[in-house]
Amino acid sequence: MASIGIFDSGSGGLSVYRELRKILPRERYLYFSDNAHCPYGEKSAAYIQDRARVITDILLGMGADIIVVACNTATAAAIATLREEYPAVPFIGMEPAVKPAALGTESGVIGVLATAGTLKGSKYLNTRGQYEDDVKIVEHVGQGFVELVEGGILDGPEAEATVRASLQPLLDAGADRIVLGCTHYPFLQPVIERLCGSGVQVIDPAPAVARQTLHVLQEKGIPVGEGPFSIDLYHSGEPESLLRIYKLVQ
Ligand code: DGL
Repeated sequence: MASIGIFDSGSGGLSVYRELRKILPRERYLYFSDNAHCPYGEKSAAYIQDRARVITDILLGMGADIIVVACNTATAAAIATLREEYPAVPFIGMEPAVKPAALGTESGVIGVLATAGTLKGSKYLNTRGQYEDDVKIVEHVGQGFVELVEGGILDGPEAEATVRASLQPLLDAGADRIVLGCTHYPFLQPVIERLCGSGVQVIDPAPAVARQTLHVLQEKGIPVGEGPFSIDLYHSGEPESLLRIYKLVQ
């Protein structure tokens, strides 16, 4: 049985956990929500690196064999540092799903929703650079999306107005693929899809990240599938926001 450590600035990483559990149902999960320091989106790389170290130490202390950085912003700011400082630990990061969007678009325009930290990170900029000759890539920060999810406001007029403000510019630019570049955003997917209407596909990279985790566990010879399943939820702030979203992915 593998012990899989997962962390995010808050509850968003549970969208990755949900996919992990589908293909790795009999593992031990350790989930850390850094909600006392959420959101990460506008924070400096050095700040996020410090938080990532603290959380990594906690997860390793609990026996994690592998750590899934289930946060695009923390992946952008800290995964290189983590890999350097903990060379024996396998880390899995989030990949912005620009490739499937670029391959699938019919309009030739893809939209990316992410945090400011992710959009200015070199990982995203490199990926963008690989595709921008072939397709037009338009971006927008999902302004207020993380706060909605942490506050448990996943639908209704407030969620719709907040989502529309960031999504509409991408739709107006002609995007027919919308990449969710922040792990909180899949919890707003029903609203996002409704506002997109038919003909626009919303892409969540979490299933691909889950498959990559399985692949790395197998490659490292860490036994999987032996059970029993368990999950421990940790949080640096109040527990309510995490428990609310956890109920949706149970
Ligand atoms: N869930 C996060 C991400 O994937 C972090 C959002 C935030 O804290 O700003 O980027």
